[in-house]
Amino acid sequence: MSERGSIFAGEDPFALARQWLAEAETSEPNDANAIALATVDSDGLPDVRMVLLKEIEPAAFVFYTNYGSAKAHELDGAGKAAFVLHWKSLRRQIRVRGAVSREDGPLADEYYASRSLKSRLGAWASRQSQPLESRAALMAEVAKVTARLGPNPPRPPFWGGYRIIPSQIEFWADGAFRLHDRFVWRREGTDKDWKIERLNP
Ligand SMILES: Cc1cc2nc3c(=O)[nH]c(=O)nc-3n(C[C@H](O)[C@H](O)[C@H](O)COP(=O)(O)O)c2cc1C
Repeated sequence: MSERGSIFAGEDPFALARQWLAEAETSEPNDANAIALATVDSDGLPDVRMVLLKEIEPAAFVFYTNYGSAKAHELDGAGKAAFVLHWKSLRRQIRVRGAVSREDGPLADEYYASRSLKSRLGAWASRQSQPLESRAALMAEVAKVTARLGPNPPRPPFWGGYRIIPSQIEFWADGAFRLHDRFVWRREGTDKDWKIERLNP
């Protein structure tokens, strides 16, 4: 692959994504790991919201959420998702599309345990995406779960991770006069090699 030098170099798109994210962490004011996660509902209507990317594994991207949320229904229903990472400070984006599966084993337990106690209890108290009568009702629920579960709550069964296993990853960097650089990596299965192409801006 000639021409794919400097910030686009390398043979592993996950390592490249990790590299770009590490760079963004030094230049973004906050949440360099925030991704816009796109899903589709049972009518084919797209939906999108921010979540925090928590892990870039050797072959997947992982984030955490509530399994009763709207996004969880859409992810479980379609089994597919896309997301974009965009860093204004670097003028770069990474776009990912792929298959989705739940991460609700030891890795989810470990991540849940690493969160602050208030966040762990908050996960128990929130029925994410369902109607809420008032802020006071939520705080009452927090007080209730705090009394019930104490200082060492287990991971709620309705809260955990999703793993996105990409079939496509695109790296984009701003160029002068809108002549941006784009490289898309595609593969037909996790046991297949990546095919890399430069795209028109
Ligand atoms: C910067 C940012 C990070 C967020 N991170 C998460 C996250 O990691 N997990 C999550 O469930 N919601 C996160 N949220 C809230 C979601 O955007 C969204 O409001 C919520 O998950 C409900 O989405 P849904 O109704 O489509 O399921 C974040 C919001 C912002 C603005």
